Amino acid sequence: MPYVVYHLPDGTSSRVEVAPGQSIMEGSVRNNLPGIVAECAGNCACATCHVRVGNEWKDLFAERSDEENDLLAYLDGSDDDSRLGCQLIVEDTDIDIHVRVVDSR
Ligand code: FES
Repeated sequence: MPYVVYHLPDGTSSRVEVAPGQSIMEGSVRNNLPGIVAECAGNCACATCHVRVGNEWKDLFAERSDEENDLLAYLDGSDDDSRLGCQLIVEDTDIDIHVRVVDSR
């Protein structure tokens, strides 16, 4: 089972199991972690699931869609590492995936 290490806005980290096929957003919400709000429940319409993914883990996920790019373009503080957690589907892997959660409240 893959593990995701969520680096949280308060400076702490939380390492949790996320089943393959679930998104980074779902892994956060299911484990009641702070920072990801997911107002649109994963429909790529709210950007309250903003995370940053470092180069080491970017290849584990599909590239940004046009829809995701459009949302991120209007999001304050987004950069090249920015992704929407609901669009990041976890595949089966035995390495820990690290993401930095941007507080969306
Ligand atoms: S949960 Fe709304 S865009 Fe990801």
